[in-house]
Amino acid sequence: MSISEQSNKLLSEFSETRSRTLELVKTLEKDDFVVQTAPFMSPPKWHLGHVSWLFEMLLSKVVKNYELYSKEYLTYLNSYYNKFGEQHKKDKRGLVSRPTVDEVFQYYHTITKRVTDILQKQLDEDAKNLFTMGVHHECQHQELLVYDLLHLLADEYRPIKKNQISKPSQIEQNPVSIKGGIYTLGYSGTDWCYDIELPEHKVYLDDYKIDAFPVTNGQYLEFIEDGGYSDYQYWLSDGWDAVKKNVWQAPMYWIREKDQWLVHDFIGKRKLNANELVCHVSFYEADAYCKWVGKRLPTEAEWEKAALWNEQKQKKTLFPWGNESPTQRHANLLESYLWSCAEIGSYHQGKSHAGCYQMIGDVWEWTSSEYVGYPGFKSGFSEYNDKWFTNQKVLRG
Ligand SMILES: [Fe+2]
Repeated sequence: MSISEQSNKLLSEFSETRSRTLELVKTLEKDDFVVQTAPFMSPPKWHLGHVSWLFEMLLSKVVKNYELYSKEYLTYLNSYYNKFGEQHKKDKRGLVSRPTVDEVFQYYHTITKRVTDILQKQLDEDAKNLFTMGVHHECQHQELLVYDLLHLLADEYRPIKKNQISKPSQIEQNPVSIKGGIYTLGYSGTDWCYDIELPEHKVYLDDYKIDAFPVTNGQYLEFIEDGGYSDYQYWLSDGWDAVKKNVWQAPMYWIREKDQWLVHDFIGKRKLNANELVCHVSFYEADAYCKWVGKRLPTEAEWEKAALWNEQKQKKTLFPWGNESPTQRHANLLESYLWSCAEIGSYHQGKSHAGCYQMIGDVWEWTSSEYVGYPGFKSGFSEYNDKWFTNQKVLRG
């Protein structure tokens, strides 16, 4: 790809991402933008302001004598970056009425214009990397925004587009056997990636088996009905404490009504679909389920090898199905506009070489690996990823 093609790609990815964020909030009422319904979620207004704020921080690194849009926004819109000064408390983002929703939109459009102008100029590699990170950061916030809209509105949210979920086909449900040996873990492509995906490094794996599809609601329901949430022996100590403290009895958004389980999501309050992938389970719940069923979570390397390794060709691909970028044919993505997990067997074309399904899209999948830097890790942007290298587990998918 030539340098000008690279720049055009970045500019179009930036425009597309900014448009998609606006699309997500297009049908909201003004009142919806301000409300914070839980300490772990953020009001939509905050997300719009924060993603623009991050681009402004990048602009101030790249543009000489950059003049900030408003110094008054800095504390409220800073999420957790000590290098950019004070931060407003995360659980109190819904308690402020300034900047107003209109002011945040004004800010959003102005920053879009400023970044667009910069991306049309000649930029060095470092600057391009920073703005690419800004685009990915905004994509991460689109995902957070969707989680938060679920908590805020559930089926009262009106997406601008809703597609029909395709009919699932029959799939092989037996666990897949994977040969062990030396495996090279990490991002193998030549495009942009996060610093935590590098460097590729060798790990040793024993032979192992992995389920051909992620755990379904129906499978998880068996764990619940067998008393999974009331028997300490399936749980890690911290997990059992969390079960008791939070009175967990089922995944988030499951509701027990009379004798049946319902879920409340973007589709509505509806009967649990046993063939949909189970969603909204913590690491502790995932781990306890595995113990109950007599299995275990995969390590990150086991997960990745099952997803990306082509045994026949002895090489790794970027996605389970090959190197082609994900589309609606391969996986359930935000841009699939389904607004729900799909049933197992819905993505025949997303099958990995090893024979695993739905490893991209639908849900993030828990692994048993600690979230730490790979050997030889080099930080790409301070305070973005590496300051979180403690007490967290790796999710893939
Ligand atoms: Fe952020």
